[in-house]
Amino acid sequence: MLQLRDGQGQPLAIRREDYVAPAWWIDTVDLTFDLDPAKTRVLNRMRLRRNPDSVGGPLRLDGDELNLARVLVDGQGASFRMEAGQLVIDNLPESFELEIFTTCCPVKNTKLMGLFVSENTFFTQCEAEGFRRITYFLDRPDVMASYTVTLRADKTAYPVLLSNGNLVDSGDLPEGRHFAKWVDPFRKPSYLFALVAGKLVAREQRITTRAGRDHLLQVYVRAGDLDKTEHAMNSLINSVLWDEARFGLPLDLDRFMIVATSDFNMGAMENKGLNIFNTKYVLANQATATDADYSNIESVVGHEYFHNWSGDRVTCRDWFQLSLKEGLTVFRDQEFSMDLCADASARAVKRIEDVRVLRTAQFPEDAGPMAHPVRPDSYIEISNFYTVTIYEKGAEVVRMMQTLVGRKGFEAGITLYFKRHDGQAVTCDDFAQAIADANLDSDLSRLLPQFKRWYSQAGTPRLAAHGHYDADARTYTLRFEQTCAPTPGQPLKLPFVIPVNLGLLDASGRELPLQLDGAADVVRGTRTLVLTESAQQFTFVGVDAEPVPSILRGFSAPVILDFDYSDAQLLTLLANDPDPFNRWEAGQRLALRSALKAIDDSAAPDAPVLDTAYIDAMAAVLRNPTLDAAFKELVLTLPSETYIAEQLPVVDPQRIHAVREAMRAQLATALFAQWEAAYDENHDTGAYTPDPRSSGRRALAGMALTFLCLAARASGDTVWPGKTLQRFKDAGNMTDRFNALSALVASGHSLAAPALARFHAIFKDEALVIDKWFSLQAGSPDRGGDVLPLVKQLMKHPDFSLKNPNRARSVIFSYCSANPGAFHRPDAAGYVFWSERVCELDAINPQVAARLARSLDRWSKLAEPYRSAAREAIARVAAKPDLSKDTQEVVNRALA
Ligand code: ARG
Ligand code: ZN
Repeated sequence: MLQLRDGQGQPLAIRREDYVAPAWWIDTVDLTFDLDPAKTRVLNRMRLRRNPDSVGGPLRLDGDELNLARVLVDGQGASFRMEAGQLVIDNLPESFELEIFTTCCPVKNTKLMGLFVSENTFFTQCEAEGFRRITYFLDRPDVMASYTVTLRADKTAYPVLLSNGNLVDSGDLPEGRHFAKWVDPFRKPSYLFALVAGKLVAREQRITTRAGRDHLLQVYVRAGDLDKTEHAMNSLINSVLWDEARFGLPLDLDRFMIVATSDFNMGAMENKGLNIFNTKYVLANQATATDADYSNIESVVGHEYFHNWSGDRVTCRDWFQLSLKEGLTVFRDQEFSMDLCADASARAVKRIEDVRVLRTAQFPEDAGPMAHPVRPDSYIEISNFYTVTIYEKGAEVVRMMQTLVGRKGFEAGITLYFKRHDGQAVTCDDFAQAIADANLDSDLSRLLPQFKRWYSQAGTPRLAAHGHYDADARTYTLRFEQTCAPTPGQPLKLPFVIPVNLGLLDASGRELPLQLDGAADVVRGTRTLVLTESAQQFTFVGVDAEPVPSILRGFSAPVILDFDYSDAQLLTLLANDPDPFNRWEAGQRLALRSALKAIDDSAAPDAPVLDTAYIDAMAAVLRNPTLDAAFKELVLTLPSETYIAEQLPVVDPQRIHAVREAMRAQLATALFAQWEAAYDENHDTGAYTPDPRSSGRRALAGMALTFLCLAARASGDTVWPGKTLQRFKDAGNMTDRFNALSALVASGHSLAAPALARFHAIFKDEALVIDKWFSLQAGSPDRGGDVLPLVKQLMKHPDFSLKNPNRARSVIFSYCSANPGAFHRPDAAGYVFWSERVCELDAINPQVAARLARSLDRWSKLAEPYRSAAREAIARVAAKPDLSKDTQEVVNRALA
């Protein structure tokens, strides 16, 4: 397609400030598809009218890789011109019927945007700008139309024909073809259009909601996969019930469909009434899916279902508002998963996992060349902005609103938002305004303009806290200072509104009553302090001895908290904090502290990294009968190499890797007896169910096996590796089987090779399991540079394919983005490999390529020789002719 370019020949940036309402509205769309893999014919009949509130101008329709055959205005041939890929028509009446006839070639669509074929089945993906690859259209989310869709195809090859809404007609056609006609009762933007056609079967369930309405739920998959749809269906039923119970938002369709495809650029898509999913987030049975898969399926099914309100009923005015639907919907799916937990401990585990994602993926993004506000100001390719900032940080912004107005107040805000904006395309401002307006005497309402800096300013704020105890006055003063480093285009930041949940513990770990100086009320437990200034202090009275502050409980704001804790204070928090998040956090701080010290200490490179106090504390955690296994597993997991790297001004990835591996070896040996006990107590979880409690026990047993095999590596013991192999063979579910296999691979044991071969032989026909097989190997710990040759060999495996995004991710991303110790090689061969794969993928699928291009986001922090070599590799990609604008935007920003 022709691209708009600036003076330097770079693709043109789209800016939020330039938003103008469309010159035309499209009221109805009547689409007829003659589906054929090589040449699909699309007849598009629309009713349009001029938007009286716009600046006017000709009709400019977006199109991409279409063959245009005919344009009729009110039934007459019309004159039009092509301008920068758009179809432009001048001199139009106030309202008219427009008929456009085009063809496209789904089988050659390797970008997987628009209409494509996967395993002889037609699918669509239209968000953000894929509909223009199906027909010429005003392909922007503020143009909402009513759709009627007729699908025609060969009946034997494509027996199932689906689109949005309700099936109103179907029947046979001559020459072995048939048709189906669908009408969507809701107006929608083009990005929510979908069709599916192929040989599929469905699990079906009829439900009656508490509102008394009947619905048909369907999960469509390939014939052999029906036995893997029960969990997705249960997750869908739970989602419907939850949204009605928690937010009063009912299912508004008679029929709600989920369809799975194995070729998909992302996780899933919330098309109205016809969600299309990556198979990874639908298919599960205990033999093929791990606990993590089960829990991801629950989240993603929930996420897409919740979009039916937060996204479909109320959508985005423009793509700068993407977080309006994504941040809110991630928040909703996180709350859904937490509300499904049976107890507070399981809720806390979910919260810790979510924060871990935010800190290992979003914090680096916010500190790197692709940093952007939750509501960006400009983009070149919108696909590049489906980021952890828009999604996960966006969810944290919504969560802070809930913290500021309370759970009930937040529910009232959500109710007002949907009442006020149902059927509209709106902005992040509209959302924040609705939550505030429903809570007029809240801090949020009082501070709204300042609070909205979370939408406009990029970067992670740093919050430095200092405590001062005055024994004579019996007061404790906490002083806070907030700063935020510059990000691209934003040199200076104004202070944020930061809700800080706080508790104070005495030296023996008991919670103290909190009374602020000058205030009458005394709070037992957690109190929320609302920070608004760059520096601010709070004094607590009636404090008998120097307390241990538990700051930012539950991670109440997405900030980096600096507090100069002593080791003793952290050990107190780790042993006693009633807030499980900060209890976990104390352990992470202790481990991080040791890691940073060892990384720095070149004088004694082989000295033990972890001290006795830490090891003893971990032993106590493992032995503690009052803690859940899932929580123990999180506490015993060391901060990731990526997280450690973020704390350092200059990063030597090999040094970080070596230190972290040394810490793991130390935990393995020093806690050998505790690992044996943990395995013995947790490895038998009975009949398989994926609930948080038993999956936590499997996770801890799996961790124990990994450490026992690591210890065996040091001692030469053969008992545990042998037991692990037996476990691998006998396992009754994929979680236990895969954990055993991982333990052998992670410890580099010679039994790993036969186990891997056996695993492949058992699961050779299960694509999602083969993805795990590839990914485990590409992500395995590097020993003397052995992983890169292995990765190259895996790419030659007959099961490998660059065109299938899941498979490409399982090998290439597992190596380049998730295995820093193997990827950052002193000889730069990892970077050379990366640049070749980015270029190769770019010609096939720009979205996937641009995602891979992000693996070197943090290159400028690397120590030499890595830094120069990484820069050179990025420059090589940037120099490639015909690079997609997706990848160009990423590499040009990296080099800027
Ligand atoms: N709206 C989808 C979801 O989050 C994701 C669509 C991603 N689109 C893209 N071009 N990457 O549920
Ligand atoms: Zn989403």
